[in-house]
Amino acid sequence: MEYATKTIFAARDKKGAIEAAAQEIKNGGIVVFPTETVYGLGADAKNSAAVDKIFIAKGRPQDNPLIVHIADVSQLDEIVKNVNEKAQKLMDAFWPGPLSIIFEKMDCIPNNVSAGLKTIAVRMPKNEIAREIIRKSGRPIAAPSANTSGKPSPTQAKHAYEDLCGRVPLIIDGGICEVGVESTVVDVTGEVPVILRPGDITIEMMEKVVGAVRLHSSITSGQLLKKDAQPSAPGMKYKHYSPNAQVIVFDGDKIEVEKSIKCMYDLYRAKGKSAEVVCLEECAAQYAQCNVAVIGKNAKQAAAALFTTLRDADELKIDIILFHMQEKMGLAVKNRIIKAAGNQVITVKEEKID
Ligand code: TXA
Ligand code: MG
Repeated sequence: MEYATKTIFAARDKKGAIEAAAQEIKNGGIVVFPTETVYGLGADAKNSAAVDKIFIAKGRPQDNPLIVHIADVSQLDEIVKNVNEKAQKLMDAFWPGPLSIIFEKMDCIPNNVSAGLKTIAVRMPKNEIAREIIRKSGRPIAAPSANTSGKPSPTQAKHAYEDLCGRVPLIIDGGICEVGVESTVVDVTGEVPVILRPGDITIEMMEKVVGAVRLHSSITSGQLLKKDAQPSAPGMKYKHYSPNAQVIVFDGDKIEVEKSIKCMYDLYRAKGKSAEVVCLEECAAQYAQCNVAVIGKNAKQAAAALFTTLRDADELKIDIILFHMQEKMGLAVKNRIIKAAGNQVITVKEEKID
């Protein structure tokens, strides 16, 4: 389906934007809308034909389930079977906000939303425009990130436009997403909650509320799952967040990483390639001779800047991104950039002199 994509700026006409988006959802259409994490591409979660349109617009594999967005806790009762104590505590602490929780789903949620699983991920976004669209439409909204499958998630409406122009009828521009990486996904259906995707709500924050929480092994090992594997979060087996530029991630001793990146930078330049170093502010001076993109001082700033930096690199026709990874960037950023690099990390050790 080819659409004449229309953008409405919520800053100019908030009420009109919310009404148009809600109407589109009620009509069984799809709409790009802002959330505090990244832009979403939404449809009525109870309308399987509408949900199909999301998969088509994004080119998303059918076996990668969507997140269902609600505006009010009362909406949970109509879509999930039971809310256990740990889920309740996490909801009380972090909703509305960037936390998606896995529940056993009810039959009214069609199978294409859950990609055939018995469970669904649910989240209540903090973004007021998102919540108003959900309220006004009167439907739970199934929405993945509003990018072409495999590309970095959109943190600005123009990113969604770049990817989905002609593929969606309506984009609501609500400005820049403050968090910048997708929600944390947590599975609370077992004894110990398991984080399937790291995000702004960290393991430490959750442990304060529910006790022990585990990170899924795919996060700690950084491995892509095999194509036919049965992952806990099906999204884990796909390459993600990839700009056109090749991303090479360096980890390890700071001084040695800096040496390696500078050396690699010069090598690529000598070959006539355009390279860019991406790092935190504290390292920027070390790369004074290079083309550098600084992604802030800490984990929050790095998350907010990451996807825009990757997309900007494409706009600047950068061939190679040399990424200086650091603990301080936080797990969510590390997880996304490792995936963008196809799960390859170069670890540089401190030079030992015997
Ligand atoms: O912040 C976000 O979560 C954004 C905004 C729009 O809300 N949405 C988003 O959706 O990132 P998406 O589709 O790009 O990522 C959904 C992730 C995927 O990794 C998927 O595999 C996982 O959630 N997921 C969805 N349902 C699941 C389920 N029933 N069990 C396990 N993982 C699930
Ligand atoms: Mg996504």
